[in-house]
Amino acid sequence: MQGTFYVVGVGPGDPELLTLKSARILNGCPVWFVPSAFDDGGSMALRIAHGAVRSEGKTILSHRFPMKQVHRGRPPDPEVQAAWHQAATTILAALDRGEDVAYPTLGDPAIYSTAFYVCETLQAYGASCRIEIVPGVSAIGASAAVAGLPLCLGDERLVVIPATFADARIRELLALADVAVCMKVYRVMDRLVPLLEELGLVDQSVLVERCSLADQRIWPDIRQAVGRELHYFSTLIVRKKPPAAL
Ligand SMILES: C[S@@+](CC[C@H](N)C(=O)[O-])C[C@H]1O[C@@H](n2cnc3c(N)ncnc32)[C@H](O)[C@@H]1O
Repeated sequence: MQGTFYVVGVGPGDPELLTLKSARILNGCPVWFVPSAFDDGGSMALRIAHGAVRSEGKTILSHRFPMKQVHRGRPPDPEVQAAWHQAATTILAALDRGEDVAYPTLGDPAIYSTAFYVCETLQAYGASCRIEIVPGVSAIGASAAVAGLPLCLGDERLVVIPATFADARIRELLALADVAVCMKVYRVMDRLVPLLEELGLVDQSVLVERCSLADQRIWPDIRQAVGRELHYFSTLIVRKKPPAAL
């Protein structure tokens, strides 16, 4: 019988935020297909999974995905597309051998995870394999928690913004939001902070770096993050109306 492909959310970093279900599925799968964004094969998701689940005896298939932007509705960059196809081929081969495959992914799989492109590629192949998505704790909720902020209350609107967007698009989205969560901010604070300053939103913003990890840092004054090298694990929350203080 063909195996099942599990996309498993492993949370934002603290292994205690990896759910019981994610741990059970990872434990039960003989093959882990591990995304890496680094040429040395290093993977954040694998490091997190290792903190909660033993990996001895597992077949670990490491796969490098290029860190390039994907624009939905436009053909992907050929290097990116080739990586998805290669991933789908490798996963399908293991499934066809009857092995269950787990794909550990950072945070929650539903939010900017490459795993969904791999699922789409499998489906485009006409593969009829069983796919199960196992949710995880997103960096969005985890960052709000450590900042002591609600993401939305009452009739407030929450907008999630990839900070790699052009300024005009960020402005548009900020105008719609009561609360905005900006992800992938680590290389763009030098342009994001002046933009927020201009909109009078700097003092309503907080930056959370390496949320839930031992060296987590909260930047209540985001001006101080300008010109600094930030970790990829950095999320900015803009809350226009302050909530009651905790
Ligand atoms: C490709 S997205 C993946 C999001 C992930 N699927 C989730 O649900 O959290 C990567 C972005 O998530 C955010 N992120 C992930 N882990 C984080 C952490 N521990 N602390 C702060 N931000 C984090 C950062 O904004 C990072 O650039």
